[in-house]
Amino acid sequence: MKLIHTIAELRAELAGRTGRAFVPTMGNLHEGHLALVRQARSATAGPVIASIFVNRLQFLPHEDFDRYPRTLENDCRMLESAGCDLVFAPDERELYPEPQGYKVHPPAELADILEGHFRPGFFTGVSTVVHKLFNIVQPQLAVFGKKDYQQLMVIRRMVAQMALPIEIIGGETCRSEQGLALSSRNGYLSDAEKVEALRLSATLKSLIAGWQAGRRDVAPLETEALEALRAHGWQPDYVVLRRQRDLGAPLDGEPLVALAAAKLGATRLIDNLEL
Ligand code: PAJ
Repeated sequence: MKLIHTIAELRAELAGRTGRAFVPTMGNLHEGHLALVRQARSATAGPVIASIFVNRLQFLPHEDFDRYPRTLENDCRMLESAGCDLVFAPDERELYPEPQGYKVHPPAELADILEGHFRPGFFTGVSTVVHKLFNIVQPQLAVFGKKDYQQLMVIRRMVAQMALPIEIIGGETCRSEQGLALSSRNGYLSDAEKVEALRLSATLKSLIAGWQAGRRDVAPLETEALEALRAHGWQPDYVVLRRQRDLGAPLDGEPLVALAAAKLGATRLIDNLEL
């Protein structure tokens, strides 16, 4: 496996190699990221490329950009064991040598709701860096986790509307044995918070159980879920039941997904469960 820091070196390394499969990340890798790399590995006979770049554009000023864990050496060991061929880890001057004035603005109906409502500009930051990374790597396929459900939708729509010749594959959410969705931000949690954090997926399950028991008035179901979290010290941003197709209001007979974001202490966690 090769570690590469510049665009020029990566292009030289990839020249003439087809069937490129790409997994973009911000590093501090865990089993969830590695599952995506293994999925990429099994989907192509060509090179598997992972990127590690903590993208300032997708963080708000008060968020954790500066303290986001940077663990390159360990990440590389893990990537190699998962079958990655090339790690692209540019520094900020390499990817953003001048302020990134050209940006990719995703449509409001998808990008200004839920995560985008609570993190304004987040999906512009994500779309811009992913578009740029796609131009650099020029993959035939790219793998994104369903853990970031709305992000996966935003990327799929970008690829479709911009006619990018890239197949997007969604990877299932990887969880701890007890059900906590793996996340680099779990590292911010104390031991007690790690136990309490299980309540997030449990709350999504209760919301789904309500729907499955025939309750079709979703607003009170969602309010109960918010209250359950608040009662245990969480500060929830949203707990909602939506259509998988476009994250619109749920309808009978359509595939649904329950999504939540909430702060536990200083740590903001997100999770979702498809029905
Ligand atoms: P990051 O949070 O590092 O996640 C990288 C990829 O891993 C994303 O596709 C994410 O959905 C996936 N992932 C994270 N936790 C997962 C889990 N428990 N199970 C399965 N997949 C999981 O998402 C980003 O980085 C950035 O926004 C990025 C796309 C790299 C753009 O900067």
